[in-house]
Amino acid sequence: MRDPAEAVTALAAQAAPPVAGGLPAPHGGRLRPRIVEDPAELARTAEMRQIPVAGRVLDDLELLASGAISPLSGFMDEATYRSVVERMRLPDGLIWPLPVTLPVTADQAAACPLGTDLALVGADGSLAILTVEDRFTRDLVWEARSVYGTEDPAHPGVAALRSEPATCLGGPVWVARRRPERDPHELDPAETRAAFAARGWQTVAAFQSRNPAHRAHEYLQKCALEVCDGLLLHPLVGLTKDDDIPADVRLRSYEALIADYYPRERVVLGAFPAPMRYAGPREAVFHAICRKNYGCTHFIVGRDHAGVGDFYGPFDAQRLLGALARELGLAPLAFEHAFYCRRCGAMATRKTCPHDPAHHVTLSGTAVRAMLRRGELPPPEYTRPEVARILAEAARRP
Ligand code: ADX
Repeated sequence: MRDPAEAVTALAAQAAPPVAGGLPAPHGGRLRPRIVEDPAELARTAEMRQIPVAGRVLDDLELLASGAISPLSGFMDEATYRSVVERMRLPDGLIWPLPVTLPVTADQAAACPLGTDLALVGADGSLAILTVEDRFTRDLVWEARSVYGTEDPAHPGVAALRSEPATCLGGPVWVARRRPERDPHELDPAETRAAFAARGWQTVAAFQSRNPAHRAHEYLQKCALEVCDGLLLHPLVGLTKDDDIPADVRLRSYEALIADYYPRERVVLGAFPAPMRYAGPREAVFHAICRKNYGCTHFIVGRDHAGVGDFYGPFDAQRLLGALARELGLAPLAFEHAFYCRRCGAMATRKTCPHDPAHHVTLSGTAVRAMLRRGELPPPEYTRPEVARILAEAARRP
């Protein structure tokens, strides 16, 4: 994979100031929530052409509604899409690593003249208004190579991309009715910012995850708590691949850990309604930017962040985020691979542990899922017994 850090390092060197005291400004200067919960707007949608939307698009609408992906205010037009895929920047130069597009069939696109308002309708009753400003065709192979570093359909992000139509509509969006069944832990960026301010936090570390909490996660989070005022635990609850553990189970694992092992007053548990794209380095930058919008000053990035299989090197995401951090005004907290060492009797990384790897307990997510299917509990060196029991119970679900 071409090193994406190279393309942007020169520009990043011209950079904005590093994180100073207080919560950071949102990306692009201000939060732009796109909610217009007005009965008149809702009534107006009945007159509009209706386009059914699902999956990743519904998650992106939720991110637009809350302002989590500020400064984006809608689905990308062609110029924005090309600029983002090619150089990881919006046309005005602001860093933006992932395309946020609205794919539609060619027939749907042909039936939507520029300048018209469309109703984007979710089966769950959610509803948004798009003003069509652009119609264009994506180059799916170029997008896959540039964003994911591969065109291999074994990559779940590439597979999802290839399953979508290439035609897109672009334009500003207003969400007229948010999805009715939001995760109860979801807090909008304005709400997390208010929560941090109420606690008087000047520095807040964010933790992204798509997995149940395990001991290595806990180690990273607690190291962050040693250096920051507070911690935003922010598991992703949008669309993930089928074999990832469901979001409700992951959230229960967090609740169990917080109840027994965390200083309650130093932790906020939220839920991040983004879909997982498995785009490794680029997605790490996306995750960090969103958490800056939620008010975080620091972002935890460990081994193979947002990676899948062997598509990325274990520290590619750290290198890209590190190259951009100064310009983003956000401090990455980068970690080596963490494990439990039986000789140390503690969690460690190779920076702190002198022992032979034979003493280290490391298990892949696949190995843990296989243990659970066999009815075995993962060992306490890998995950706390409270979490292991939650996982075992979920594995017995029909
Ligand atoms: S993901 O969003 O990055 O796909 P995951 O749950 O796998 O979610 O990891 C969450 C965060 O913890 C990421 O920053 C990842 O790099 C880090 N991480 C997970 N396991 C380890 C580990 N054993 N050592 C170091 N970092 C880890």
